[in-house]
Amino acid sequence: MNARDIDLATIKTWPAAVTEEHDGWFYLAAGGVTGRVNAVWPLNWTGTDVEAAINDAETWYAARGLPPRFKLTDGAFAPPDLPARLERRGYACVMPTLIMTAAVRAGAAPGEVSMHDTLPAAFDAVIRETSKDAAEYDERLSIALRAPRPAGFATIEHNARTVAIGMCAATGDLAGIFLMRTAPEARRQGLARLIFRALMTRCAAWGAKTAFLQVDEHNAPAIALYRSEGFAPLATYRFWRKA
Ligand SMILES: CC(C)(COP(=O)(O)OP(=O)(O)OC[C@H]1O[C@@H](n2cnc3c(N)ncnc32)[C@H](O)[C@@H]1OP(=O)(O)O)[C@@H](O)C(=O)NCCC(=O)NCCS
Repeated sequence: MNARDIDLATIKTWPAAVTEEHDGWFYLAAGGVTGRVNAVWPLNWTGTDVEAAINDAETWYAARGLPPRFKLTDGAFAPPDLPARLERRGYACVMPTLIMTAAVRAGAAPGEVSMHDTLPAAFDAVIRETSKDAAEYDERLSIALRAPRPAGFATIEHNARTVAIGMCAATGDLAGIFLMRTAPEARRQGLARLIFRALMTRCAAWGAKTAFLQVDEHNAPAIALYRSEGFAPLATYRFWRKA
């Protein structure tokens, strides 16, 4: 299992609205808000003319009213000179993000957590509250609605209000963890840890062997949580976009 395997599993478990393969590169598009589902993932290179392929990607995104973006994962992009070519065309890289993984281990599911097989309405308010605007909320919610099976959605309620959520979805023996969110007033009470453990228990029940997640390199609270639950960095990816 390497970073390319995790990227391929991410494309399946955190699905864009449109995914197309061109010369080994995956073009992903959704609402144009968040990075992963609105970028080219150049995971393999089977073409012959890289500059023409970049032109093709730029045209593809322009036709959707989106800026071209490339998501390059260390050790998992092709061809190797792609960063230099993008730089020459005025692209710069932003948003270093860690891919973290851990072996899935079975544990006891915490009783405070409710698990659902399909997206519960309860996710709605927490995603809304923790998104910067309506467009981000729409995009994240529609990705969760497109999640493949098996998927698991965890919630914790306090006083009839959902205050913490998290989601997992598996493909083969890889399981992705997404949408870890605790409402601001309920943070530092151990709720995300309970959600996380419930999700990992579900991943173990599916027979998944490795769990993965992606987290902004600057998101110290989330990284501390994941490290304390046994996750370690596997690779870093960055988005390349025109300055
Ligand atoms: C990250 C997030 C889900 C953590 O939720 P939470 O319910 O507050 O987390 P918990 O109380 O379960 O904390 C578990 C561990 O995470 C770490 N942690 C959580 N918040 C932290 C903070 N502000 N600073 C440092 N470490 C923190 C600690 O290791 C903590 O364990 P400890 O309390 O025993 O020290 C929450 O801050 C959040 O919703 N952030 C915004 C959305 C986000 O960034 N999600 C992650 C995307 S990858």
